[in-house]
Amino acid sequence: MMRFTLNDGNTIPAIGFGVFMIPGDGPTYDAVLAALKAGYRHIDTAAAYFNEEDVGRAIRDSGIPREEIFVTSKLWLQDHGYEQAKVGIARSLRKLDIGYIDLYLIHQPYGDVPGAWKAMEEAKAEGKLKSIGVSNMSPAIWKKFVPGFETKPAVNQVEFNPLYQEKEIRALMVETNTLLEAWYPLGHGDASLLSNPTIQALVDKYGKNAGQIILRFEVQDGVITLPKSTNPERIRTNLDIFDFELTGDEMNKIRAMDTGKGSHDPDAPGVEQMLRGAFVIED
Ligand SMILES: NC(=O)c1ccc[n+]([C@@H]2O[C@H](COP(=O)([O-])OP(=O)(O)OC[C@H]3O[C@@H](n4cnc5c(N)ncnc54)[C@H](OP(=O)(O)O)[C@@H]3O)[C@@H](O)[C@H]2O)c1
Repeated sequence: MMRFTLNDGNTIPAIGFGVFMIPGDGPTYDAVLAALKAGYRHIDTAAAYFNEEDVGRAIRDSGIPREEIFVTSKLWLQDHGYEQAKVGIARSLRKLDIGYIDLYLIHQPYGDVPGAWKAMEEAKAEGKLKSIGVSNMSPAIWKKFVPGFETKPAVNQVEFNPLYQEKEIRALMVETNTLLEAWYPLGHGDASLLSNPTIQALVDKYGKNAGQIILRFEVQDGVITLPKSTNPERIRTNLDIFDFELTGDEMNKIRAMDTGKGSHDPDAPGVEQMLRGAFVIED
């Protein structure tokens, strides 16, 4: 598996297996074990996915050495602020029960983000979190918080796929050598993306499926990608993108598919309130 080097010197597998919306009472355990068996070594969860226990149990039961698996989790909004973030970090560590967390993110960048970040920096210094980053930071939110951070985020996990290439935030992230991680890397299964003629022409040329062409574009463009599938064949083939390379001209054709619009606008009025009221994470 190809790896990228983060701005703190740690490395991260280019493709991760996301477990968003997989229930935490068994299905996540099965899915993570299946993903590890298929060759994934990078699992993306969050406190707000309510399945950290299942992810941890699957990793412990997998028989694969802990240091070979890269695990991301995320702090939820209710735990922002310095003291409360320590509680949230401790809760994630306890639920996962895998010793340390490879990458921990501010999941939604509202409220006392600087306080939460300070607690994350301390947990990193203590070795509980190996790398720290952010998620869902728009250019405006990035400019509000990141200049005040002592440790620059290793990643910003945002919506990204050929139809929404986040060019403005990527330009800011170059300054701090922060990598982009793509959620909705396949447009959440968007048929207009998968059946786009530019993608389909490459499907024919390389004998790969549309998902593989899109994921190859993303990784080749320097993006860590988190495709989700519950289909065993696609779980396997989504990793099988390292035996071909898109030409510079093909990369530019896909770059030209950018519409500049996605499904989620972190700056939209009411988003913070909606997320805050969504649920409560319990111990
Ligand atoms: N940080 C955040 O706020 C945030 C928000 C949303 C998501 N995420 C992360 O991003 C991950 C991915 O999100 P997502 O699942 O919604 O989006 P996605 O990976 O873009 O799309 C998944 C959809 O694409 C289909 N699919 C998978 N592989 C395919 C292929 N090769 N060809 C055609 N279709 C394919 C899947 O169907 P099948 O299952 O039938 O294959 C599923 O319907 C999540 O698990 C989560 O970890 C993070």
